[in-house]
Amino acid sequence: MPECGAGQSECVPGRAVVVGASSAIGAAVAVELAALGHEPVLWGRDAGRLEAARAACGGGRVDRVDVTDAGQVEAALARARDGAPVDVAVWAAGSFAWGPADAVDGAAWDAVLEVGLLAAARFARLVLPDLLAAAPSALVLVGSGAARRAYADNATHVAAKHGLAGLAGGLWLDVRDRGVKVSLVSPGLVAAGAGLRSPAGQERPDQLLQPEDVAAAVRFVVGFPARGCPVEVELQPQRTP
Ligand SMILES: NC(=O)c1ccc[n+]([C@@H]2O[C@H](COP(=O)([O-])OP(=O)(O)OC[C@H]3O[C@@H](n4cnc5c(N)ncnc54)[C@H](OP(=O)(O)O)[C@@H]3O)[C@@H](O)[C@H]2O)c1
Repeated sequence: MPECGAGQSECVPGRAVVVGASSAIGAAVAVELAALGHEPVLWGRDAGRLEAARAACGGGRVDRVDVTDAGQVEAALARARDGAPVDVAVWAAGSFAWGPADAVDGAAWDAVLEVGLLAAARFARLVLPDLLAAAPSALVLVGSGAARRAYADNATHVAAKHGLAGLAGGLWLDVRDRGVKVSLVSPGLVAAGAGLRSPAGQERPDQLLQPEDVAAAVRFVVGFPARGCPVEVELQPQRTP
């Protein structure tokens, strides 16, 4: 972490676990954290995209993890902390299912909540001991505009992101006095992943946020002086998408 605790004479950035590093947003976050001196630990399922993210970072560790499998998450965290502290954790995984609630595929509907909220909460609980031991440290959850408002054809996404906002707020109260920042970074439409499949993403991708903009917000949180925590950061494209 850039700013060290009062008792530390020397501060060396530790490992940064980025969950969903196979997405363009997660990869951009990992690149930014690597530039800050953290060793990125890249989680996802797509081996090719994870390797591409590692190359973009100029190094780091890749671990193929299905975040809905608690055993895989625990084993991957044990590997991540082996030999170096984990002092940053970023949750950028997500699953998507568009459509009216009475028409959307049932398994996809469930997966939005399983990946976007249940797995995020489990990951946060499991990584917190690492972040507490490494404090000052940071946990960043990538939210969305749907964290604070509802959208049609997106009910479980809205529910998952509202849940993520509650999770971030509650977690921060649990650890704020022990040196762990917890932040919800909520971008509007990004020219990446699901954002590119939206009507605005198809028609006007140049007017959306870029993955690097989300990474800049994560950097702001991680680099923020340890006496404060940007508990919630909302980003929107400057121009109406
Ligand atoms: N794109 C936007 O406009 C936008 C706006 C606001 C917020 N966000 C948020 O940014 C994050 C990335 O979204 P995106 O739009 O870039 O989507 P995306 O390209 O579809 O990326 C989704 C990510 O989640 C990972 N993931 C999904 N299920 C997983 C599982 N079971 N186990 C492990 N990893 C899993 C994927 O990894 P694999 O492919 O390797 O399985 C991938 O890295 C999400 O949290 C999303 O809500 C996106």
